Amino acid sequence: RERLAHLSSLQDALNLLRKSKNIIVLSGAGISTSCGIPDFRSSTGLYAQLQDEGRYELDDPQQMFDIRYFKEKPEVFYSFAKQIYPSNFVPSPCHRWIKMLEDKGVLLRNYTQNIDTLESLAGVTKVLQCHGSFKTASCLRCKTRVPGQTIEPYIMAQKIPFCGTCRQQRDAELEIKRAQKQAKKKSKGKAKASWDDEDEDETGEEDEWGGGEPGIIKPDITFFGQALDSEFDECLFKDREEVDLLVIIGTSLKVAPVSEVLTHIPHSVPQIYINLTPVHHVQPDICLLGDADSIVTYLSSELGWSVPPPAAVVH
Ligand code: OAD
Repeated sequence: RERLAHLSSLQDALNLLRKSKNIIVLSGAGISTSCGIPDFRSSTGLYAQLQDEGRYELDDPQQMFDIRYFKEKPEVFYSFAKQIYPSNFVPSPCHRWIKMLEDKGVLLRNYTQNIDTLESLAGVTKVLQCHGSFKTASCLRCKTRVPGQTIEPYIMAQKIPFCGTCRQQRDAELEIKRAQKQAKKKSKGKAKASWDDEDEDETGEEDEWGGGEPGIIKPDITFFGQALDSEFDECLFKDREEVDLLVIIGTSLKVAPVSEVLTHIPHSVPQIYINLTPVHHVQPDICLLGDADSIVTYLSSELGWSVPPPAAVVH
């Protein structure tokens, strides 16, 4: 108890939680570390690990999630992706706490930056996965969207998945060209085109497809350099009218535009920041520093709220 923030803040937090009816929970990687998933920016986080391993030859570990780098070297992301692919993780007390807020009818929305889908696994339905997820994947060339399971075997085999729709389209177009070429030859009454003619035609076909490769499929997780889904702005535009408390849990608030939620909601809305380490670039009204699971468990016990027990999770 002494390790939590000073008591007046804690009392304020309890009072706010007691009376609020439309709570936005803004969450980040810190709510999943107790599930065994590393965060990004801690000394033991993913970026430090990528830096230490040095095996991907990145100038900056954030390049792993940079869209320009991905287009240039997709093999780097696909040799690493299985490390972050959601597997048999069980939701933390924090995830279950958010679910409890929803069950109590006071959760306006959970804006999560996490791609581990543990909020959904905990049963939270009012969740917006601001940075997307592995649930779907899209072709960078023709934009066809496929279920995430389609590329799961590729992720596990550390191989690049190429787009089936592009491939079909390419094959169909090449087939038409071949037929047109045959027809042209026939109409000219030639039994065989000259070598020069043939080379010219073949090169033309290949060029149209940029060397003949179909598009690369990328999981629909938001990379640096990619815009967030429009749903983010739409939800925030709506929610800012209703929100009466912002609870921020387990995020360094370093990545915009999610970090800007703080400034996009009215200044009169109080903010509670629950995190292991303090933030210096923003000043939330109340900071409760410590392990997020312990803090939300403590808050619930003080409020007499019961958090749902860990459910048997079927994968
Ligand atoms: P960060 O790693 O930047 O921040 C996680 C925060 O959680 C840190 O400040 C930790 O101190 C804190 N933390 C860790 N374990 C905790 C615990 N048990 N209890 C309380 N706090 C704890 O992760 P995010 O802020 O989520 O985006 O990162 C935001 C985005 O940056 C990610 O979604 C990802 C990343 O680059 C993309 O990849 C697009």
